[in-house]
Amino acid sequence: MQTIRQLDLLRQGVADLRGDGSRIALVPTMGALHAGHLALIEAAKRPGTRVVASIFVNPKQFGANEDLSRYPRKELADTRMLTEAGCDLLWMPPVEAMYPAGFATNVSVAGISEGLDGAARPGHFDGVATVVTKLFNQVRPDVAYFGEKDFQQLAVIRRMVADLDTGIEIIGVPTQREDDGLALSSRNIYLDEAERVKAVAMPRALGVAARAIHKGDAPESALAAARDTLIAAGFTIDYVELVDAETLGAPDPARPRRLVAAARLGTTRLIDNLAVDPNG
Ligand code: PAF
Repeated sequence: MQTIRQLDLLRQGVADLRGDGSRIALVPTMGALHAGHLALIEAAKRPGTRVVASIFVNPKQFGANEDLSRYPRKELADTRMLTEAGCDLLWMPPVEAMYPAGFATNVSVAGISEGLDGAARPGHFDGVATVVTKLFNQVRPDVAYFGEKDFQQLAVIRRMVADLDTGIEIIGVPTQREDDGLALSSRNIYLDEAERVKAVAMPRALGVAARAIHKGDAPESALAAARDTLIAAGFTIDYVELVDAETLGAPDPARPRRLVAAARLGTTRLIDNLAVDPNG
C-alpha cells in the first residue's frame, strides 16, 4: 500500500490505480481504525475496484469544546491495519494542504444537517460536508463507503451528493458491534472501566424500543422508556428520537424509520441507531 501526503502525487497514484480500468472506491476516515473501519474496506474490495482510504482528523468538524486535541492518532497502527486489510492507497494530507492560508469555502447542507447531532454540535456537519467534498474532489472516486453508525452523517452526504450531481455512489455499511452490542467507535477508548460497563445500556435500550415500536407500541412510550433506561445507567441524553430513515424528519409508519440516539457518559459522547422496520 502506498501512503501519499501530497495532492499531485495522489492524483498520479489514483491515475495509476485506474490504469487497468479499475473503479476507485474511497473510504474516508479520521484514523484510530477499528473493526468498523475494516468492514468499510472489506465492503469496498469488489472485483475490478481499487480501494483508497483517507485519514484526516478534520478540525472543521470539531466544536470549540470538543475533543480535537485528544482525538486518538495512531498513524503506524492504522497504516499496518490498512495494508493487512488489502487497501491499495492511503491518502493522509497534512492540515496545511487541506486548509491552506486563505481557505474560505464552507459546504452546508440545509435541513437534514440541522436537527439531532446538528443541533447538539453546531457547525459539525458543515465541517463534515466541506471535508468530504474536498476528499471527493481530490480522489475523484466512483464510489464511497460510510458507516451507518454515523447515520445522520450518511444522510447528509447522500443529500449533498444528490444535490450537487457529484455522480459518486454512496454506500452505507452496517454498524459493527462489540459482543455485548456496543457500537464500535474510535471514542470508546475514552470510557473508563465502569463507564464501559454502563455503555451497554445504549444498544440495549434502543433494541428494546425498536422491537416495541415495530410490534406496534406507541413510539412516545417506547422512546420514554429508552430515555429512562439511559438516565438510570448514568447517561446524560442529547436525544433519543424516532425519525424517517431518509429525511430524518417526522417518521411515517409507511416508510422506513430509524431510532437514533446520542448521550454522554462522563465526558464521552456515544451515538447509536437502529432500524425499526425490516429493510429500514
Ligand atoms: O466519519 C468520519 O470518520 C468523518 O466524519 C469523515 C467522514 C471521515 C469526515 O471527516
